[in-house]
Amino acid sequence: MMTTRQVMLSGMRPSGLLHIGNYLGALQNWVDLQQDYRCYFFVADWHALTTDYEDPGNIKGSIGEMVLDWLSAGLDPDQATIFRQSDVKEHAELYLLFSMFTPIAWLERCPTFKEVLRELEGRELHTHGFLGYPLLQAADILIYKADAVPVGEDQAPHVEITREVARRFNHLYRPVFPEPETRLHSFPLVPGIDGRKMSKSYDNYIRLSEDPAEISAKVRMMITDPGRIRRNDPGNPEVCTVHTFHQVFNPDELSQIEESCRSGEIGCVDCKNKLSEKLEAFIRPIYEKRQELMGWPAYLEEVLEHGARHARRAAGATLDEVREAMGL
Ligand code: TRP
Ligand code: SF4
Repeated sequence: MMTTRQVMLSGMRPSGLLHIGNYLGALQNWVDLQQDYRCYFFVADWHALTTDYEDPGNIKGSIGEMVLDWLSAGLDPDQATIFRQSDVKEHAELYLLFSMFTPIAWLERCPTFKEVLRELEGRELHTHGFLGYPLLQAADILIYKADAVPVGEDQAPHVEITREVARRFNHLYRPVFPEPETRLHSFPLVPGIDGRKMSKSYDNYIRLSEDPAEISAKVRMMITDPGRIRRNDPGNPEVCTVHTFHQVFNPDELSQIEESCRSGEIGCVDCKNKLSEKLEAFIRPIYEKRQELMGWPAYLEEVLEHGARHARRAAGATLDEVREAMGL
């Protein structure tokens, strides 16, 4: 019997170069999923406009940088459908049709609505587009009849609204949409090199495509146990940023490092050198793949066009059903 693979879909707003936190938090999981599911991964450039409409100059460049990172890290256009949201206008039509029956209250009470309004205080976000953010996301998801959406916890409310929209549609017209589930994945959280959350805005990040030659300099800047003053002082790995990285990138040597840190046998310089080696080994193939892809600029557009063609076909089939169900 033929088994149809489940559909997985996820998107990222175009944020430019990704850091290793973005990789561990999402991209690594996408790469793992692409063999076993029918995957759609896309750049949510319309979503970027909901908050950046006054200053959209960065969006275009960020798309290219981000997709280069995706491909360098192993997303495979032969396995997954990789595309740009704005290339598939069908998303906009479904969003419009959904807007006819979606109560405004569902959008107003979405927790991310108030949170982002507060976070981005100073930007004029009392707009139709910003309020409709989760509904556009619902259209992104339902247009491919996704079974599951691999996203972080922060996106769970949007998937919840998506389910409500699917239910309401199915009830008002006829059953067309499955109710997608949120697929959270557990991943190790690495801090930035200063020990705070790794973030572009703190300038404390390590790029996924960092030049291997720059890595040891970044590792040298990492905050260690502040209680360790002299080389032979016993250390406490639990409070050390370098240790957190060893947990992720050097699991084999971890317990040995912890022991020799606690006993004061290993110095922080040596400990950092060990980490640099492992991080370099992790990043080098990604960096090299990226260099290779950069020498072939037309390829990126080809990938996105190929993905869009494929996505349009699937999206168009769903829209045919939707139009018909809605009496158009
Ligand atoms: N809102 C998501 C984010 O900020 C991006 C996104 C847009 C998305 N459409 C989606 C994620 C559909 C999953 C499914 O990360
Ligand atoms: Fe951190 Fe390693 Fe120094 Fe211990 S030895 S404090 S784990 S850098």
